[in-house]
Amino acid sequence: MSALTQKNARKEENDFPLPCYLLPWFYANKRDLPWRRNKDAYAVWVSEIMLQQTRVEAAKEHYVRFMRALPTVFDLAACDEEKLMKLWEGLGYYSRARNMKKCADRVVAEYGGIFPRDKALLQQLPGIGEYTAGAVSSIAYDEKNPAVDGNVLRVCARAEGDFTPVDNVRRRRELTKKLAAVYPEAAGDYTQSLMELGALVCLPESPKCGACPLRGHCVAEREGWQSRLPVMPEKPQKKRERLAVFLLRAPQGTALRKRPAKGVLAGMWEFPNQPFAGFSAAEKEAEGAFLRTSLLDLGIENFTLCFKKEHTHVFTHLVWEMTAYVLDIPDMPPSLPVFSPEKIRGELSVASAFRWCLELL
Ligand code: ADE
Repeated sequence: MSALTQKNARKEENDFPLPCYLLPWFYANKRDLPWRRNKDAYAVWVSEIMLQQTRVEAAKEHYVRFMRALPTVFDLAACDEEKLMKLWEGLGYYSRARNMKKCADRVVAEYGGIFPRDKALLQQLPGIGEYTAGAVSSIAYDEKNPAVDGNVLRVCARAEGDFTPVDNVRRRRELTKKLAAVYPEAAGDYTQSLMELGALVCLPESPKCGACPLRGHCVAEREGWQSRLPVMPEKPQKKRERLAVFLLRAPQGTALRKRPAKGVLAGMWEFPNQPFAGFSAAEKEAEGAFLRTSLLDLGIENFTLCFKKEHTHVFTHLVWEMTAYVLDIPDMPPSLPVFSPEKIRGELSVASAFRWCLELL
């Protein structure tokens, strides 16, 4: 796309997702989502943190479970870490859940359990950045603060025909200002209408322009630029690591250990594992020697390899190519914490990268 072509775009003054286009559409089309039934700031905040990690469909179930277990900020502040990790299980980025607890502690200690409505004060709390502060203050308190996430950036890039890459900090700042200037009294509804349009109509692939309330007010639709916008930043290659995972089946149960307090999946339960280079089918002997040495390191001399299974787990910046070795052992060494499969499934927060292993026990 040459600069000249972009300049020649047929752009109108009102090519922008203005509230007068979006609000009527939102009221007629919004989804009935569990967090839309409660405008309490704590509830809004919980939903927004979850939605930063997972899709709406997956967040629904977690949200309902979380709010049933911890209905107020006081409950979260009083919750112990193991219970919190269990409630967060499956959502990933467990440091977010720990930050939520820190945030709840501060809201209780400094604000008597009521989240502040001021965006700047919200942003001083642990785990609350500009997006979350905008979302909470607008959705819970109808403060006229935009919450610019990926959906909103896409909607606006298309409506305005803007080719700035979406990770550009200046673009985000300017867009936030522009949106703030048109915010209506129904600020929370406007925030959510922008997100909702991105989720239901202005889809990344194959947007449904025929059903869009911005039809006639969108440069991308007029110029046929939908597939060129938004301009995404170049993605760095993800680091790949190979991991051998040991599923030890002893009469007492199976072994788990806690991950270190810092780093990937900090403090979560995992099956014993170690980095390795992997083995081809022709490397049976080397694989056998590797297993013997690794298990000796864990204090295990006798074992039977029952079967193995491969699995790939993708994080945002990292890929784990995992091989699970399912091993029967006559006795569990005392150094390894041992649990029944029922206890693991029901009570422990096993890191999501290892949960597929539960089916192999
Ligand atoms: N994505 C982020 N926040 C959301 C919300 N409140 N409703 C729907 N989708 C969202």
